[in-house]
Amino acid sequence: MESLLLPIRQFLCCATPGAWIELARQPQSQSLILQDHLLCELKAAQSAAWLLRRYVLDERSSQRLQACLAPYSATVYQPQRLAQLPRPELSVSELSRRHGGVGSEALLEKMVRLIKEELHHFNQVHQLMQSRGIAVQPLSASRYASGLLAEVRTFEPQALVDKLIIGAYIEARSCERFAALAPHLDGELQRFYLSLLRSEARHFEDYLVLARQISPEIIDPRIEVIGARERQLILSADTQFRFHSGVPTPSRSPAAVTPQSS
Ligand SMILES: [Fe+2]
Ligand SMILES: [Fe+2]
Repeated sequence: MESLLLPIRQFLCCATPGAWIELARQPQSQSLILQDHLLCELKAAQSAAWLLRRYVLDERSSQRLQACLAPYSATVYQPQRLAQLPRPELSVSELSRRHGGVGSEALLEKMVRLIKEELHHFNQVHQLMQSRGIAVQPLSASRYASGLLAEVRTFEPQALVDKLIIGAYIEARSCERFAALAPHLDGELQRFYLSLLRSEARHFEDYLVLARQISPEIIDPRIEVIGARERQLILSADTQFRFHSGVPTPSRSPAAVTPQSS
């Protein structure tokens, strides 16, 4: 496990603050963390799908991808609609390309695999929530992803490169938090979070490989800029408590967090 975590910790500019772990480990935080984790898995799949629709796929294949994700979104946003989730069936060979730009084949191959894995994680979290009687509820998003996306440059291919580096940071932080939280959780959650580390660890590297392949210049300065922003979001006070939130403000408690009404 340590060998998986070493490159992640070297990539991230800071560790998760103790105050976040302290709040997240409380029994009354567990349902909120699981609900937000479920949303994180969905968003990870949606972001990868968005990259494919925006940069690679033709219209028909974009719709095919949307249809593949639709039951998962419905589970979160219209939970009364669905009792059983399908297996995520998707393959590179059934998707056709609109563009053949630099790195587009690698982007397609890595993102299709990542989407399937994230949807599988979604299924796992969903089942765990069902077995614990935790209802699926949409939550308002934390400031984390939008704070990182504010760093994206406005011209291509640099905008895509920045989005890929941000994808790497989100994946790496998720891994680091699974590892930080796992020792404080019950046996089932502990085993589950540690099992997720394996595939999530590779996701962060997949994003970085793609960014290096697509960028016309060395990406290290962008890794530094986005890493500094990520560090600031993790280490500064945050009024919201979520899986990727910053340092909880003293008044925060999980009970004080209100689910989104929509
Ligand atoms: Fe995942
Ligand atoms: Fe992931």
